[in-house]
Amino acid sequence: MTSMTPDRWAATATYLGEVFGGLGEPLDDQLATLMDRGAAAGLPRIAVSADVGRLLMVLASLVSGPGGGRAVEVGTLGGYSGLWIARGLGTGGRLTTIEAEPKHAAFARAEFQRAGRRVELREGKGLEVLPRLLEELGPASCDMVFLDAIKSEYRAYAEHAARLLRPGGLLVADNCLGSHWWITDPAGADPARDAVDAFNRWLGSPASGFLACCVANREGLAVARRL
Ligand SMILES: C[S@@+](CC[C@H](N)C(=O)[O-])C[C@H]1O[C@@H](n2cnc3c(N)ncnc32)[C@H](O)[C@@H]1O
Repeated sequence: MTSMTPDRWAATATYLGEVFGGLGEPLDDQLATLMDRGAAAGLPRIAVSADVGRLLMVLASLVSGPGGGRAVEVGTLGGYSGLWIARGLGTGGRLTTIEAEPKHAAFARAEFQRAGRRVELREGKGLEVLPRLLEELGPASCDMVFLDAIKSEYRAYAEHAARLLRPGGLLVADNCLGSHWWITDPAGADPARDAVDAFNRWLGSPASGFLACCVANREGLAVARRL
């Protein structure tokens, strides 16, 4: 088995960028520059990588019907992952994305407007906005929910997501192998690590009501189908 080193991960990302770069649309240029523009505006560089963005797009397209899909994201940042998801949902699709930090929300709003995608940004905390969304949209109304905000809240987000998702819909969660550390760190090393570990164990168990796996890229992307 090949041992992945930082250099190998970097070379792999470069190769994937060359081969699976863009779709030849103006949105590609926007996505390619978004993180640098975000950093210049004071946003942290903590968006998903381009290869994860592309995977989110493909997953969103798989669960979207011909009229477009409906998705919810928790943790918008500058809109990078949201734009990939919106692309996958199709022109008739709709994404609602939740962001707690006003500066991030303002940046992302401008990006969504520029892209001309049907994205609604709700400013607030995931655990406060999700129950309101459930009331507004109704149970089993969504095709995909993407979690990328507070790691220790994933399990609680997932409770709302399970109600929002239709059977067959997808729950996707980033950083399920950690972000600055690996899940192989010992229990107790970090509260977020322990919370994500508990989330993974719940998601992977029959009790969750999901058929789940984790894509073992650097940070781990859990992908789970609502049964
Ligand atoms: C890892 S970043 C999201 C990256 C984004 N999904 C992307 O890949 O482009 C996490 C975001 O969640 C936001 N956030 C923090 N706490 C939150 C909460 N309780 N509810 C919603 N968003 C929150 C942060 O301000 C930050 O913008």
